[in-house]
Amino acid sequence: MTTASKLWAVEPETAAAGADAAPGAAAAVSIRHARRTYTADLAPVRALRGIDLDVASGEFVAVTGPSGCGKSTLLNVIAGLDTLDEGTIEVDGQRVDGRDEDWLATFRRHHIGIVFQFFNLLDGVSALDNLVLPGVLGGMRRRAAEARARDLLDLLGLGDRAAQIPAVLSGGQRQRLAIARALVNEPTLLLADEPTGALDTAGGQEILELFRRLHAGGQTIVLVTHSPEVAAGAARQVRLRDGLIEADSAVPSDPDAPDTSRERQDTDAVSAELAPGAV
Ligand SMILES: Nc1ncnc2c1ncn2[C@@H]1O[C@H](COP(=O)(O)OP(=O)(O)OP(=O)(O)O)[C@@H](O)[C@H]1O
Ligand SMILES: [Mg+2]
Repeated sequence: MTTASKLWAVEPETAAAGADAAPGAAAAVSIRHARRTYTADLAPVRALRGIDLDVASGEFVAVTGPSGCGKSTLLNVIAGLDTLDEGTIEVDGQRVDGRDEDWLATFRRHHIGIVFQFFNLLDGVSALDNLVLPGVLGGMRRRAAEARARDLLDLLGLGDRAAQIPAVLSGGQRQRLAIARALVNEPTLLLADEPTGALDTAGGQEILELFRRLHAGGQTIVLVTHSPEVAAGAARQVRLRDGLIEADSAVPSDPDAPDTSRERQDTDAVSAELAPGAV
């Protein structure tokens, strides 16, 4: 599925199907007995104390819990940015624990998109180049990467910002750019650590809506958040406490939720302007 169809070309029926992983869907993430202890100066910190977690392809999971409970550590070990002391992690059916840096860098480029709280954009280059560079690193020719970057900028409402550097963009625009960057190489798994943490309420809502659209289009998402509103926007909540999973539950759909059919029409109007598979 292309990013264009993931983002916009979602019929209501398709969105409903995307809201829950199909029975028997392939596991996007499979974690067994994951443990991670940091040996700091004083007492060792047991950040993960035995995590078992499966995320099916197409799920949208919010990871919540108090500060220091291990949320970022969990995301980092899934991404191979941090290592486990014990246990195993599979992403897309491939073991990521115990791999060397080169293998992980290549794997991440093609399978995992990561969005951080403070965007982690390249400050000195344009919005366009922030997307072109990972595309080229991912194996695209520069011209193809540029075309894809422009399409993503258009899709995320940043089409007129291509030449600007991140510093002149608003927080919400920077985060949309960071999400676009995470999508350049069409990752199977999108990870986000507090993606709305640095944004105001409106900016956070906008980013949440973007994640919801991506999910409706089939994107697998694991998102860490402190915000109950953001967590409620996911289809499943996993709550951590002291390095363990304390609760794992489907988020009930809110019968009093505002009717989004109007938004959907707006979405379809955008979609109609884009040829299917444009990105
Ligand atoms: N590199 C590190 N060295 C030592 N201790 C660490 C390291 N990274 C994390 N920790 C510790 O591991 C525990 C879990 O940290 P983690 O960052 O995963 O928490 P978190 O749930 O993401 O918290 P927050 O909500 O504040 O971001 C904390 O006690 C933290 O201090
Ligand atoms: Mg954290």
